[in-house]
Amino acid sequence: MEKTGKKVLLSGVKPTGRPHIGNYFGAMRQFVELQNSHESFVFIADLHALTTVQNAEELRQNILDVALDYLAIGLDPKKVTLFKQSDVPAHTELGWIFNCITTMPYLERAHAYKDAVAKGREVNVGTFDYPMLMAADILLYDADVVPVGADQKQHVEYARDTAEKFNRIFGPKGGSAGASDTFKLPESLIIENVKIVPGVDGQKMSKSYNNIIPLFASDEEIKKAVMSIVTDSSGDVPKNVYAIHELIRDKKSLDALYEEKKGKYKDLKEALIADLISFIAPLREKREALAKDTKKVLENIESGGEKARERAEAKMEMVREKIGVKLY
Ligand code: ADP
Ligand code: TRP
Repeated sequence: MEKTGKKVLLSGVKPTGRPHIGNYFGAMRQFVELQNSHESFVFIADLHALTTVQNAEELRQNILDVALDYLAIGLDPKKVTLFKQSDVPAHTELGWIFNCITTMPYLERAHAYKDAVAKGREVNVGTFDYPMLMAADILLYDADVVPVGADQKQHVEYARDTAEKFNRIFGPKGGSAGASDTFKLPESLIIENVKIVPGVDGQKMSKSYNNIIPLFASDEEIKKAVMSIVTDSSGDVPKNVYAIHELIRDKKSLDALYEEKKGKYKDLKEALIADLISFIAPLREKREALAKDTKKVLENIESGGEKARERAEAKMEMVREKIGVKLY
């Protein structure tokens, strides 16, 4: 195993727009919490973003934004290998190898692909093949845990299945090079009580649904977003307001507040605004300070890429040997 003896954590975020509190509580926060206890690889999934972002200027800006987001939430580049997917060509190389051992019907079962088809979109091959690139992202680094939101669980299962399949085909019996398995089976890490954070309209909070509370929102944006949270009039507790409030306040004081302000939706929304502002303002200020020196931010990502490449390349040497393309 790794020299550090720590478990390996790997995760990534697509540079597709401003992150929201769903991204943070569903996934990103865990990267920070686990950075001391795990050997961590956290990356910017720019090649995955290319399935939807096809404008160079926009992608460049989005990449820089995610780099800033990572640093602003407290990821420490001295502890975590922070990098950009496209800086490590092994991801696409391994993705291709996985394509060759994967079947169409298996990929056709992916939720994300099925949803895109159901919406009548013309699906590009990258979207269809998304789980194989993601499997490569994960398996290259022998990840033990992959902290993600609940909606990504299936993708991590694809990575596990693909690892098993590769090990079976090219493993001790099928391959000629050594007796050990090539890939470790990863586990997803999902905070059970968070699950899916609702957006202001009550659906899953998502960049694609125009229903977000941005993680680095201005006070004005926070007020506007909270005031627009849809409340049903069936009970005393506005369900969507509570579900968001629960993320940033402990249950005991929250329940006391909701009991005291029973049915007073406006007061409860105002309380949520105040709590969100106290939570978000320091993060936003840190991000603004970091944004003053983008060169330094990019240097962190660039040097992370070197470390990641080294690690991934060692794995690829094993893979090339196993599949039979390494002759010298
Ligand atoms: P989006 O749906 O806004 O485009 P992404 O697909 O980029 O978000 O997700 C980035 C990470 O945040 C993933 O690990 C995902 O599971 C998590 N995530 C996204 N939306 C939510 C949400 N509403 N609740 C919990 N986790 C979420
Ligand atoms: N699919 C993830 C998302 O939409 C992003 C991602 C790409 C990822 N590769 C990954 C997450 C590897 C964890 C591990 O959010």
